[in-house]
Amino acid sequence: MAKQIKMLINTDDKQGHINREIYGNFSEHLGRCIYNGIYVGEDSDILNIHGLRKDIIDALKNIKLPVLRWPGGCFADEYHWKDGIGDKNDRKKIINTNWGGVVEDNSFGTHEFMELCELVGCEPYIAGNVGSGTVRELSEWVEYMTFDGVSPMADLRKKNGHEKAWKLKYLGIGNENWGCGGHMTPEYYADQYKQFANFCKNYNDNKLYKIACGPNAADYNWTEVMMKKLGRPGEWFADGLSLHFYTVPDWNNKGYATEFDRDGYYDVLSAAGYIDELITRHSEIMNRYDPDGSVALIVDEWGTWYDVEKGTNPGFLFQQNTMRDAMVAAISLNSFNRHCKRVKMANIAQAVNVLQAVILTEGEMMIKTPTYHVFDLFKDHQDGDAVYCYSQNENMKEGRNTPMISSSASVKDGVLTLTVANCGLDDDVDIVCELSGIAPSKASARILTGDVHDHNTFDDPEKVFISDYNARIDDGKLKIKLPACSVAEVRLS
Ligand code: AHR
Repeated sequence: MAKQIKMLINTDDKQGHINREIYGNFSEHLGRCIYNGIYVGEDSDILNIHGLRKDIIDALKNIKLPVLRWPGGCFADEYHWKDGIGDKNDRKKIINTNWGGVVEDNSFGTHEFMELCELVGCEPYIAGNVGSGTVRELSEWVEYMTFDGVSPMADLRKKNGHEKAWKLKYLGIGNENWGCGGHMTPEYYADQYKQFANFCKNYNDNKLYKIACGPNAADYNWTEVMMKKLGRPGEWFADGLSLHFYTVPDWNNKGYATEFDRDGYYDVLSAAGYIDELITRHSEIMNRYDPDGSVALIVDEWGTWYDVEKGTNPGFLFQQNTMRDAMVAAISLNSFNRHCKRVKMANIAQAVNVLQAVILTEGEMMIKTPTYHVFDLFKDHQDGDAVYCYSQNENMKEGRNTPMISSSASVKDGVLTLTVANCGLDDDVDIVCELSGIAPSKASARILTGDVHDHNTFDDPEKVFISDYNARIDDGKLKIKLPACSVAEVRLS
């Protein structure tokens, strides 16, 4: 017998605007994310545009990827951008000390990244080097990218073949400066931030949106110090404060992506749900200093982190991706939607071949992971208004907060989008959803479901895929049956 679940959506009760950037990705010079992933080089037999894989560009366009963060991660605070411009034969070969000690030949640099973003149609989000860089270096990078006119850096860009300045909105000032970005105290970093940010100028009509390094998960003191030191209402030095949170129940025992039991499933889901508490508590601190919400919370690294696949380089962080990861993605994205008043951007780690990747590649083959499909199911929320969405619920594991139902709803152009997951492993649920503020006549739905261990492989690339599904309006209510371990998108108009 299916469980009966009551829901209520009130479209008159608007909860905030869902910035499309909540559906962002992160790409780092790590393992096979950039090299042998996104970037295969112009001489590759794999179909490419100036070395950028065409199938990856198309796949990212399909999920309407709004923003891509680059070049790290920990790599960002070791990256010297001038190594990655000009003739590729002359570019420096350096050691990627964070990720496997491999040779970084700098063949993918600023021009290649900007072209990638143009082809995908997304905003670039550059993470600048604070840990081992200088104020001048970052200031010159901004000048190189965004100044149209006569100046040393604009001239250099032109000499390197790009006459017109690019538009750059999102600029991160360092990455994890409490850790790999320099092991700084929040007090020291806040001063560093102000100095670096001060010299990153707005040229012509380019307006930077500056993001300060924020807390590691539950480091509430970091947030407190940042908010204290980064300004006051009406006069903020930062537009955003980042938050990094990885879904890992036990860092000493991460386990494999595809090998887990019921406890392993529910523990990971409960860890994913913790993002809600983190956002709530960091927001409470931010609200005290910034009641108007001028400074956004930017969750620019999130996702699952398991042991690497057997036989792969431990420094490359390559992992498979199952329906468990799809559920983590649904829980996280629903949470970001619900907190969209404060959360203005989020970037899953990472886009390709690293951690909770949306895309995996092997040679010329490419697969879309279950997580990719969740981004596809959720894409209609982009630029919508979040609306009140309540669900009756049930806890799936004693002693842990592991709700059976995860949901969020938004309205855009008169269409209501609901994304809802049945996180339970045993029971179907019959959802009856009361609707207030909207009286739709049409319902359509898409679903992702399967055994919790199901995943796509290069031999079986479409084991997990999205199907059209049944939802109906009956007596003014939305009715839908969700199988165990499923994520659905419902559209009502
Ligand atoms: O995403 C992998 C790494 O995780 C990033 O480089 C770093 O910022 C974080 O610790």
